[in-house]
Amino acid sequence: MRQKTIVAIDGPAGAGKSTVAKALAKRIGADYIDTGAMYRAVALKLVRTGTDYNDPEALQAMLDGMDVDFSDGHTLLDGEDVSHLIRTPEISAVASPSSGIPAVRYKLTALQQAMGARKSIVMDGRDIGTVVFPDADFKFFLTASPEERARRRTEEMRAKGEKADFEQIKADIIQRDYQDSHRDFRPLRKADDAVEIDSTDMDIDGVVDTMMAFIDARDR
Ligand code: DC
Repeated sequence: MRQKTIVAIDGPAGAGKSTVAKALAKRIGADYIDTGAMYRAVALKLVRTGTDYNDPEALQAMLDGMDVDFSDGHTLLDGEDVSHLIRTPEISAVASPSSGIPAVRYKLTALQQAMGARKSIVMDGRDIGTVVFPDADFKFFLTASPEERARRRTEEMRAKGEKADFEQIKADIIQRDYQDSHRDFRPLRKADDAVEIDSTDMDIDGVVDTMMAFIDARDR
């Protein structure tokens, strides 16, 4: 890449955003920032400290003293590596509603913007192209059918030796899509100028190649 570049990748849960974003970041020599992990870290802190996200004062006090950062692909909450602790169904269940609270989004948006001010990044999430970096150099909106996303998640869990019920996973995905795209404040939405890529019948390399084609075409 010729200069500092910001790539925004938004889309619903399970569309393959993080895998694709990681691979794309490697190809263009940028850092990968997983904003979902940041909302999950907030959820973990809420659970650990017993903070009610509907209590504005308690929430603000918790957020004021909180730092979320990344190091070598690990998520750091106040300096502690919480990468594994944030990947549980309990944390997913708290991250979805708490990510709809404006104070939480203001705090994380500021941290995300500071990360993008320093270096080239590929950032994935729900509001990167619409709110965090409306002037991003490249914006993609990655989707896949709910069935395909549930199938991928089921396979992923079974590969790790975990029990997985396809129908339950599909129902959870549809429920999360609804919550993320219908919340009042900054819902999941495709930016008007984002390139939409439906990955239902594509593999990871196919998606990354498609994105690279857009980047190369404009960067040449
Ligand atoms: O992508 P994920 O499943 O790790 O995200 C966890 C939750 O955080 C999910 O419910 C949506 C929310 N989120 C958000 O509101 N905005 C972002 N930029 C990223 C995630």
